[in-house]
Amino acid sequence: MNASLRMAIDAAPHIVVTGGAGYIGSHAVVALFAAGYRVTIFDDLRRSHPQVLDGIAAITGEPASLVSVDICDEAALDAAFAQCGQVDAVIHFAAYKSVRESVADPVIYYRNNVGGTVSLIAAMARARCRRLVFSSSCTVYGQPDALPVTEASPMKTAASPYGASKQMCERILRDAQAAKGNTSLSHVVSLRYFNPAGAHPSALIGELPAGTPDNLIPYITQTAAGWRKTLRVFGSDYPTPDGTAIRDYLHVMDLAEAHVAAVELAMRASPGLEEINLGTGIGVSVLQAVAAFEHATGVTVPIEMAPRRPGDIEQIWSSGTRAADKLGWRTVRSIDEMMASAWAWQTRLGSTPPAGV
Ligand code: UD1
Repeated sequence: MNASLRMAIDAAPHIVVTGGAGYIGSHAVVALFAAGYRVTIFDDLRRSHPQVLDGIAAITGEPASLVSVDICDEAALDAAFAQCGQVDAVIHFAAYKSVRESVADPVIYYRNNVGGTVSLIAAMARARCRRLVFSSSCTVYGQPDALPVTEASPMKTAASPYGASKQMCERILRDAQAAKGNTSLSHVVSLRYFNPAGAHPSALIGELPAGTPDNLIPYITQTAAGWRKTLRVFGSDYPTPDGTAIRDYLHVMDLAEAHVAAVELAMRASPGLEEINLGTGIGVSVLQAVAAFEHATGVTVPIEMAPRRPGDIEQIWSSGTRAADKLGWRTVRSIDEMMASAWAWQTRLGSTPPAGV
């Protein structure tokens, strides 16, 4: 890297990304870097793989700057912020995300997702950083009465402790942003993701959950690759055209770019709070997602019908009006690109799963 580029990066706004070695976090780190930001990752790699950092470095041409820290450990967070110097904003991804696991073991979701967010806000206040972009989820709506879901749609009872943990975090952020005390936040942008999928076009980073995937698209790619025998389709008796549940799948690179726009919004002069849906506005059933994968890749996915999964809702998709207004953002990548990139990443991982998967 030449000296003037180095100086430009050193002078750029500095963003801390908690959970930056995770699936969405790693793609956001790459997008922030491409937009000229300086990035430090806070992550203890407990649910990600150290190779993600190599992938980020290979894409950006810079070693990823990582501080290993448990998001629930306030003293460790204080030390991490002290090590970073001036931080202009934080994007907070570090959280657990399995609906199934949250139904089985809710307390770890409340401890890590809610407790971690509270610890982070308190540590940010001590570090004098009051701008936060939060990784929320469409799950905060529960099963909506009307579709597409707008940000004005009521929050129903969450269908899972995971969903409840996101609702609680959003409430905490609203209170912290409205307050004027020692632990208040000045700028908050909560991003309610629909269903991210796909991978960076380099296939150097992508989705690789530890253990058996809960999410549909990695289960599809791992089944297509022969890592898993059959994809179980959870529920074929939903009141949808083909009986399977409907979601709004968006390309993870589109989602990553939304975080750059959200950071820019959080860097504005006047304090504020925004809650914004991020999706395509298109509902896709489980069987349509399988067909889209097969169409994009030419690879067949063996499926079997199975009972509904506890904690699942039947259908949801997004209205993107506020994202367009507030962030100037909409998705630009197709479902074909999403599936092809997910497959390119899966293919790169090889014919047998790495240890721990
Ligand atoms: C849920 C949340 C989402 C969150 C995500 C994090 C809702 C509405 N959505 O996603 O906001 O970001 O968790 O993990 O709560 N499926 C199968 N077979 C499989 C796997 C999944 O049929 O092997 C089906 C599911 O039953 C569901 C659909 O595929 O109908 C999508 O599932 P998944 O990818 O796990 O995402 P959500 O549960 O929608």
